[in-house]
Amino acid sequence: MRNVDVILGLQWGDEGKGKVVDVLTPNYNVVARFQGGPNAGHTLEFNGEKYVLRSIPSGIFQGGKVNIIGNGVVLDPLLFMTEALELAQSGHDLTQRLFISKKAHLILPTHRYLDKANEAAKGKAKIGTTGKGIGPTYTDKVSRYGLRVGDLTDNFEQKYAAARERHLEQIHSLNELAVKKGGEPVSLDGLEALEAEWMKGVQFLCTFRHIDSEHFVNNSLREGKTILCEGAQGSLLDVDFGSYPFVTSSNTVCAGACTGLGIAPNKIRDVFGIFKAYCTRVGAGPFPTELFDETGAQIRAIGHEYGAVTGRERRCGWIDLVALRYTIMLNGVTQLIMMKSDVLDSFETIKACTAYRINGELTTEFPFSIDENVEPVYQELKGWHTDLTQCRSEQDFPAEFRAYIDFLEHELETPIRIVSVGPDREATIIR
Ligand code: GDP
Ligand code: IMO
Ligand code: MG
Repeated sequence: MRNVDVILGLQWGDEGKGKVVDVLTPNYNVVARFQGGPNAGHTLEFNGEKYVLRSIPSGIFQGGKVNIIGNGVVLDPLLFMTEALELAQSGHDLTQRLFISKKAHLILPTHRYLDKANEAAKGKAKIGTTGKGIGPTYTDKVSRYGLRVGDLTDNFEQKYAAARERHLEQIHSLNELAVKKGGEPVSLDGLEALEAEWMKGVQFLCTFRHIDSEHFVNNSLREGKTILCEGAQGSLLDVDFGSYPFVTSSNTVCAGACTGLGIAPNKIRDVFGIFKAYCTRVGAGPFPTELFDETGAQIRAIGHEYGAVTGRERRCGWIDLVALRYTIMLNGVTQLIMMKSDVLDSFETIKACTAYRINGELTTEFPFSIDENVEPVYQELKGWHTDLTQCRSEQDFPAEFRAYIDFLEHELETPIRIVSVGPDREATIIR
């Protein structure tokens, strides 16, 4: 039976995945994260409360559903402990219904230092990572050095010491490179204190159920249960298809749900692709429709576009349909979900990039590189000048906003099934 739906971001992350996973959770038996780690920040708002989830899936708030952290995720026990304890304090104890894959890789304290040392050694070419050790942890996974949740109960101290030693050597040589480039070396101050806290996190993590999640997930499917897979980041940050090298270190596209949970491709039913009515990006890297003017600043201010993890300013720009067509194609998106439509309420004109002009030639195909040679070609649409946050059904939409939806559906050849008009769970219109 095809009982698996996947929800994922189609832009550079922060599309509003957390909110929508929470809204859709009542329709499923199990919610599972399949990649990424605490670089994610998924925000949910309901009943006047606000939560930001980083490693824990966004299906924990509705109906006591089983939530899973899959093998494709990288997990920092200390950050996990902080997150889970905060949730427990606000009345959400997860020990009985949050299961963790034994194959999920562990982010060690030295991975965080390595992340910073890598950035320092790159100098001007730095990625602007979240500094959570994501890249180094996935690097260890692929180079077959990684430590996994299942290692915690098997000679862990020895394995930890070996990894630590190797990491310190790597940090040392990266520091030499950084200094050669005129940069600052990364100091190891605070490492031992962090390790002591991290080990407490390990103890805490051991109070949760560690499972062979691929068996759990497939047994659930055999019993006729339904699963919602929650992506982190967005397709333009995918390590294969994103704006490489300015990407994250995992496969954020739909295929990541298969490798990150052990789900066969033929089990997948719907792929929900989430996008903002405009576009944002945090960190370095190309962004063809970025606005450096007052309009960009206005979008940032109205949309509160500041990172949920790092508090950094998010770069803002118009919607990019060339990029969206590309990510819809890569993911096999069956239904679209448009977020933050209300942020554009006050604009006279809304612009949408329908093609790129590269060296004088028009293209609608997302190219190998989206560098400064790419000039976006815009179509202008009329703004709606209506407070969309008050809308609770499609009938409430003003004509100009309907025209924007029709235009996007036509350009993207995919139906927009959900329109979000505010951060709260209630501000969600299902068409
Ligand atoms: P995620 O990483 O994809 O889960 O998204 P983030 O939580 O990082 O960023 C989305 C932000 O937009 C959060 O602060 C949400 O509370 C907020 N948000 C979500 N949907 C809407 C919406 O429709 N309108 C507005 N104004 N804010 C929204
Ligand atoms: P959610 O799940 C937005 C960006 C970082 C940086 C690049 C690499 O909340 O949408 P990393 O720490 O992963 O090595 O950083 O990826 N990035 C995100 N941007 N939303 C995210 O997650 C992100 N996770 C990573 O800013 O540019
Ligand atoms: Mg986010």
